[in-house]
Amino acid sequence: MAGKALSLLPPLLLAAAGLAGLLLLCVPTRDIREPPALKYGIVLDAGSSHTAMFIYKWPADKENDTGIVGQHSSCAVRGGGISSYADNPSGAGQSLVECLNQALRDVPEERHASTPLYLGATAGMRLLNLTSPEASASVLAAVTQTLTQYPFDFRGARILSGQDEGVFGWVTANYLLENFIKYGWVGRWFRPRKGTLGAMDLGGASTQITFETASPAEDPANEVQLRLYGQRYRVYTHSFLCYGRDQVLRRLLASALQTHGSHPCWPQGYSTHVMLREVFESPCTAAQRPRAFNGSTRVSLAGSSDPTLCRGLVSQLFNASFCRFSRCSFSGVFQPPVAGKFIAFSAFFYMMDFLRTVMGLPVATLQQLEVAVVTVCNQTWSELQARAPDHRARLPDYCAGAMFVQQLLSRGYGFDERSFGGVTFQKKAGDTAVGWALGYMLNLTNLIPADPPGLRKGTDFSSWVVLLLLFAAMLLAAFALLLYQARATKSARTI
Ligand SMILES: *[C@@H]1O[C@H](CO)[C@@H](O)[C@H](O)[C@H]1NC(C)=O
Ligand SMILES: *[C@@H]1O[C@H](CO)[C@@H](O)[C@H](O)[C@H]1NC(C)=O
Ligand SMILES: *[C@@H]1O[C@H](CO)[C@@H](O)[C@H](O)[C@H]1NC(C)=O
Ligand SMILES: *[C@@H]1O[C@H](CO)[C@@H](O)[C@H](O)[C@H]1NC(C)=O
Ligand SMILES: *[C@@H]1O[C@H](CO)[C@@H](O)[C@H](O)[C@H]1NC(C)=O
Ligand SMILES: *[C@@H]1O[C@H](CO)[C@@H](O)[C@H](O)[C@H]1NC(C)=O
Repeated sequence: MAGKALSLLPPLLLAAAGLAGLLLLCVPTRDIREPPALKYGIVLDAGSSHTAMFIYKWPADKENDTGIVGQHSSCAVRGGGISSYADNPSGAGQSLVECLNQALRDVPEERHASTPLYLGATAGMRLLNLTSPEASASVLAAVTQTLTQYPFDFRGARILSGQDEGVFGWVTANYLLENFIKYGWVGRWFRPRKGTLGAMDLGGASTQITFETASPAEDPANEVQLRLYGQRYRVYTHSFLCYGRDQVLRRLLASALQTHGSHPCWPQGYSTHVMLREVFESPCTAAQRPRAFNGSTRVSLAGSSDPTLCRGLVSQLFNASFCRFSRCSFSGVFQPPVAGKFIAFSAFFYMMDFLRTVMGLPVATLQQLEVAVVTVCNQTWSELQARAPDHRARLPDYCAGAMFVQQLLSRGYGFDERSFGGVTFQKKAGDTAVGWALGYMLNLTNLIPADPPGLRKGTDFSSWVVLLLLFAAMLLAAFALLLYQARATKSARTI
């Protein structure tokens, strides 16, 4: 009896070991490991109208995977953009302190020294660098001085080129939506079939359009070649300086002052005083600037709620009468036909959201958008205030802004009803804001490798398969042994 039990022991042990091995392999490794350490990175997005701070985080052990980096927290810097501190540079540094103190609390203390911190400035500073390179240099020096006083790994304050701004916005959107690569259930990377999404960004001082295209770029300034996760992408991008929301409003105001004596895009019943310096000091209104004017003069201007005149004013921003390429968007800028789906974020989103949710107007087609814009532009000041009591500060400018967006998409970029159907207006993907900031950090921290991660995962995967086969073989061997022994005892009994 004891001998029989003893002879059963080896196959049973073998079976138990095989079973345990199989079970361990099948339990997701994530569940039995310690929670992975998080890494953090901070980007200050110094836009023309304001600065925003984004803190990103990702699990350290998955550094090179797509869609892993997400937003941890964010902070809106109080006051204007850093370029508004041209006359008081140290104020630009001081303005960031409140958000940086928040970063000290949001990032665990033991991670401070290893957390990269970047400041990227966009079109507001590009304009300041055009009018006064010394002023822009001292603003950058002032913010650098503030940022180096913090325990983070400060990696510089720079002015992004329009091309970088466009491409990093495109990288952010496609990274967050996992359009580059995806990690499948079998433990293998694959490339999603849906392709990449074009990106449209509308800031305060510039607007960017970026999309993957097969058409050759006739102007090399508009083409960027990228290698991400082993795949090559040919991307068209252009940034239109002075076509951001605030600069467009300023240009329309300058035209209205000069040609109409009233503002056709402002609501009837609304009037305000404008200081000529504020209208004409920007390089974007330089062409409209009167030869002699007193900057301190205040001029009174009233709205007239005239959709037709307003459309005429806005359409003057899009000059399609010269083009040295086979085709242009406007202002002589080369652009192939828009291709594929698009995501439009920042002020594009806010403008459409105003029409949709505040005004309750449908904007699913270009035609609906056109009707919605005319409806907004035809409202009097009291009608508008009654409909949108919470939006007072920007309320008089929504007509001009929406008219500009509609004209930019149709007349400017050449969207038709079909291609417009593929545009989504969205400010976030999951919890993460869509903008250039994340793409900028991913690039500067080398978090998107040029080579595919398949090799690294491949060895993991094949060793997993080998172990799986080994443990299965152990189980089979155990059963075979058991069967053999059962037969042996049976035949022994019959003898
Ligand atoms: C990420 O990729 C880089 C370069 O390809 C490599 O040096 C690094 O070890 C990778 N990190 C991880 C966590 O796999
Ligand atoms: C300002 O513009 C000049 C000329 O385009 C450029 O060389 C310089 O790098 C710019 N300054 C900064 C801080 O980017
Ligand atoms: C400009 O206007 C201000 C206020 O209207 C006035 O005090 C100032 O003298 C004017 N300057 C010139 C150069 O005319
Ligand atoms: C368009 O640009 C051309 C060349 O710069 C200029 O001659 C023309 O007047 C402009 N047209 C409009 C409507 O602004
Ligand atoms: C503007 O509104 C008035 C009534 O408030 C209406 O009679 C007119 O037709 C509207 N115009 C347009 C272009 O919608
Ligand atoms: C990202 O960074 C690399 C250097 O690490 C650089 O060569 C490349 O041009 C950058 N990509 C973009 C889109 O700027």
